[in-house]
Amino acid sequence: LTPEDKAVILNSIRDIPDFPQPGIIFKDITTLLSNPKAFDTLMNHLEARYKNYELDYIAGIDARGFIFGAVLADRLNIGFVPVRKKGKLPYTTVAEKYSLEYGFDEVEIHIDAFGENGSCSREEPSKVLLIDDLMATGGTAKAAASLIDKVGAKCVEACFIMELTFLNGRGCFDIPVYSVLQID
Ligand code: PRP
Ligand code: MG
Repeated sequence: LTPEDKAVILNSIRDIPDFPQPGIIFKDITTLLSNPKAFDTLMNHLEARYKNYELDYIAGIDARGFIFGAVLADRLNIGFVPVRKKGKLPYTTVAEKYSLEYGFDEVEIHIDAFGENGSCSREEPSKVLLIDDLMATGGTAKAAASLIDKVGAKCVEACFIMELTFLNGRGCFDIPVYSVLQID
């Protein structure tokens, strides 16, 4: 990723002060998605990075991870799997709770999302890339990664468009973590 390309992506993301609460600067990716040059630059970069990983699936986290994950899966000619907030998936699911600042939330995945026992017609577990728009504490993605593990597949990397480095979310992962943009 050249500095110019990085700037194109970064400059397409809009800062919204005091959303959803006073003191928070919200990183609004709708302006990235509606900017064809920025979106294409980002997806070209992710496609180039992951094309030789021999991935079987992309798993995207509800909700913004769906957008980047589905486009990347299509570019790599592999399947896309949604990791959803609790209560949205219709078939048999596996669930994982994670902590928020106050209370907890829960994500779910279909038990057969990566094939029976997490593998598709091979002996080895399916190789999965996890993707989301943003890593803050890392709690959401950590829960999603453990779901991939629970259904028998292998999460080979967690990928984020943005990483809030000052929260040190990557410290809670035992798999490689990649972020396109680092925000401090
Ligand atoms: C945001 C963001 C990540 C998560 C990161 O989603 O899109 O999924 O928070 O936070 P963490 O690293 O501290 O877990 P949010 O839960 O606000 O829901 P949304 O994507 O459905 O809007
Ligand atoms: Mg989210």
